[in-house]
Amino acid sequence: MTGTDLAGVLDGCRIMPVLTVPDPVTAAPLADALAAGGARCAEVTFRTPDAAQVLKTMAAHGGLVVGAGTVLTAEQAERAVTAGARFVVSPGYDGDVIARCSELGVPVVPGIATATELMRALAAGLDTVKLFPAEPLGGGALLRALAAPFPGVRFVPTGGIGLDRLSDYLAHPAVLAVGGSWMATPGHLERGDFAGIRRLTAEAVERSAR
Ligand code: 3PG
Repeated sequence: MTGTDLAGVLDGCRIMPVLTVPDPVTAAPLADALAAGGARCAEVTFRTPDAAQVLKTMAAHGGLVVGAGTVLTAEQAERAVTAGARFVVSPGYDGDVIARCSELGVPVVPGIATATELMRALAAGLDTVKLFPAEPLGGGALLRALAAPFPGVRFVPTGGIGLDRLSDYLAHPAVLAVGGSWMATPGHLERGDFAGIRRLTAEAVERSAR
């Protein structure tokens, strides 16, 4: 496996729930709800102290390809992969994170917001990037403008996207998957609203199949 083969790991999964999970006890019912809604992949952000434990529990679920998000350091990348992360996502471009993931043989997806950052990723041998934060930066119009000069690059737009904006992104052939937290928010987890998570996930998955 190359360090960049996210498409191979995701295996057709186009909806990426981005998860921030404070309490590891909710990880198993969360994985159940996402899988029941038809999700096949998920990103556990390293924004909470127990993120590695959450990732480990969700990876053990078996029904989901689970990666790590908000990975800011090489040390976090290592912890994520030890916990079972199948891919690593970063909000920006960090050479140490990319180098460590390449050593570990795990696909790494740096966040980019400009053509210059995209060219850095290409120079590092990567062909898949996270367009972040997609909506505040310009949404579908930005994606189309940025994708045009870089044939072969695949994008995972994330940031400010909800169900209403999904189809616009997914319609672009350069989009590998769309990420977002709207399907499973910290509010859902606090309330124990796993039925709501399942419903929102199913809606998104259904929309992605059209
Ligand atoms: C991320 O880390 O990818 C984003 O915080 C997810 O963006 P959203 O919360 O706006 O969906």
